This record gives sequence, structure tokens and C-alpha cells, in this order.
Amino acid sequence: MNLSIAVPKGRLLEPSMEILNEVGVDLDFQDNRELVQKVNGNTLVLSKARDVPVYVEHGIEIGIAGSDVLEERRSDVFVPLELDFGKCRLSVAVPEEKDLDIEDFDGYTIATEYPTLTSDFFESRDISVDVLELKGSVEVAPKIGISDAIVDIVESGNTLDANNLVELEKIMDVSALLMVNRISQKVRFQEINELVEKIKGLL
Ligand code: PRP
Repeated sequence: MNLSIAVPKGRLLEPSMEILNEVGVDLDFQDNRELVQKVNGNTLVLSKARDVPVYVEHGIEIGIAGSDVLEERRSDVFVPLELDFGKCRLSVAVPEEKDLDIEDFDGYTIATEYPTLTSDFFESRDISVDVLELKGSVEVAPKIGISDAIVDIVESGNTLDANNLVELEKIMDVSALLMVNRISQKVRFQEINELVEKIKGLL
């Protein structure tokens, strides 16, 4: 189909490749750390999940990533479909030994990979917090005493458990999304629409 497609490395990679394979976009790539590969006429971009919406906004035609990263980046992309994998939630979590209420968070420090969504959430509740942006493993921050709470993705809850944290409140439900570059959506409407319809048929 001669498409450029960005898929996220990490836990969404396998279901993303599966769904694309099932609709006939064969992206049987070489697992050799080459991040942009030509596969059967398509260009595959293996990206950090958080950058997929950025690449799609700036010219990659199709991408798959979580609604969490799209909301955080606020990228201007077209989203024709929510996919049926990558289901999890973005939540506030606190150390289990602390009996905390969100309304008492004024002045607290919140560690997160999602500074925009975190600030928006606490502002919407009229609670003033300091946001400490980290690039991963945010569970470390309350353990070593540099944050009072975290805002992070919870799927099974195992990571919170293992780090003695408990979920206090859900900020948003998260799901994988199909994203399309806005110009491609117009100039390759028919091809992209066919692909979207095929994927829809699978869900
Ligand atoms: C996410 C998140 C948590 C974990 C939650 O990290 O940041 O650490 O998954 O999943 P669980 O509730 O099933 O334990 P991920 O492994 O995606 O990597 P990241 O830390 O690089 O975001």
C-alpha cells in the first residue's frame, strides 16, 4: 500500500503488528534496532509510544499509540478508531502507609511522565501541586521521598503493588488509538478509509 506507519515499541508493539497484519499490511520487520525500515513497500517507523502522535502530526501517515500520549502531547491528528487493546487507566497513586485524600494535596509534589494531564487534573479540582516530570519508573520518586504521590498508567496494578503504592483516583481511561495524518486523510482518503474499515471489521 506504500504507507508510512509509526508503531510504538513496548507493550503495544505486538498487538499493533497483529492488527495490521490481519488487514493485509504485512510489516514483518527485522528485529535489528533499525528504526525506520522498508517492508513490502511500506515504511515502518519503530517509535517511542509518546512520539507516535508527533510523527503522525508531522507527516507519517498512520500511527498507533495510547490515548494517554495523544492527550498529553495534544497532537493535531485525525483519530478514526479506538482499538480494542492497550486498555488501562491513568491514575493518581500514593504510598500505602499514607492515609491521603486528593482534596488534601495542596502543596504536594506529584511525580509523573504526564505533566500536562497531571496539571490539568489538579487545576480542574482547584488543588495546587508541584509537578515533577520524570521519563519513566516514576514509582521510585515517593519511595525515595522526592514526591508525595504519582500519576501513572495502571493496567494490572502489579507495579503499584510491588512498590507499596495504592490507586487513589482514576484520571482517565486509556486505549490504543489509530491515528492518521490530517493531510494524508484528505489526499489518500480512499486507501486510508479502506484500511480503517477493514480494521473496524475486526474489532
Ligand atoms: C507502565 C506504567 C507502570 C506499569 C503499570 O510502564 O508506567 O510502570 O506500566 O502496569 P501494571 O499496572 O500492569 O503493573 P511501562 O511498562 O509501559 O513502561 P514505562 O515505565 O516506560 O512507561
